[in-house]
Amino acid sequence: MVKLSDKTINKINKNNDTNYTKKKGQKFLKFLKKINDKLLNHEVIVNNKYTKWWSSTSLEETEIKNFIIQFSVFSNQFLIAQLQKVINSTTLESARESKEILANEIGVIFKSNKRKREEEEEEKKESSNLISSDGTVDGGTYRFAAAHFEWLYKIAKKLNLEYKDIGRRCHGYDSTLYFCDKLIELYGGNNYETSVAVSYAIENWAAAGFWKELIIGFKNYNNKTDIKLPISFFTWHDKIEDQHAEHTQEELEEIYFTQEINEDKFINDGNKMLDAVLIFWNGLFI
Ligand SMILES: [Fe+2]
Repeated sequence: MVKLSDKTINKINKNNDTNYTKKKGQKFLKFLKKINDKLLNHEVIVNNKYTKWWSSTSLEETEIKNFIIQFSVFSNQFLIAQLQKVINSTTLESARESKEILANEIGVIFKSNKRKREEEEEEKKESSNLISSDGTVDGGTYRFAAAHFEWLYKIAKKLNLEYKDIGRRCHGYDSTLYFCDKLIELYGGNNYETSVAVSYAIENWAAAGFWKELIIGFKNYNNKTDIKLPISFFTWHDKIEDQHAEHTQEELEEIYFTQEINEDKFINDGNKMLDAVLIFWNGLFI
């Protein structure tokens, strides 16, 4: 069942924005149906064999080690893709959205909106020149230990891996590096249309539940052994994705209604990215 978000329905009903017409609404619903059939049905979204296996098997220490090493390579290469996404942004707004993710990834802690508002009020009293921003890392604090990579390192240490054993390209399987390179090329690339499609595909993949399956596997492992792996890296990402998934369609609607999207190219680009994601996961079965 496909439907428009309340936000878009309101805009159509108001009838004062030429981008938001009933006709376009119907066209979008058809597009959404096509996306559901031809993109979101991708194997890596509906049937990720690796994470299914991970959540249902009795994991051995070497299997967890191998996984953490590959994930740490991806985690670092993702920084390059995200930085390129910042650089290739075509609007200040999208550059800031991308910086938000990058800054948080390397250790800037999100600041709660309430605290930020209070501070802005204070600042307003002092300066009439305040540039307000919605960014939640804006005004946030940097902490080395808040870098996502360091959360992975915490797990690695428990598995007797050293810092030098994780994170670098030399540790990556060919399949991991292939995925990372596609991410840099497509997600971080300079083709705006492609990056919109790829971001949409990536967000839907990230929200498809693989974090939850990974967490189940880790918890099972922690229950059967004395090694208690600190899995905040995974529980944190799972929480963030749950929040983010709600906005994915809204974001797509905004782009669809205000710009021209080549529907077939969108689906094609999205699938190219998801194919690479699947190669990463399947490559972990060694
Ligand atoms: Fe992250």
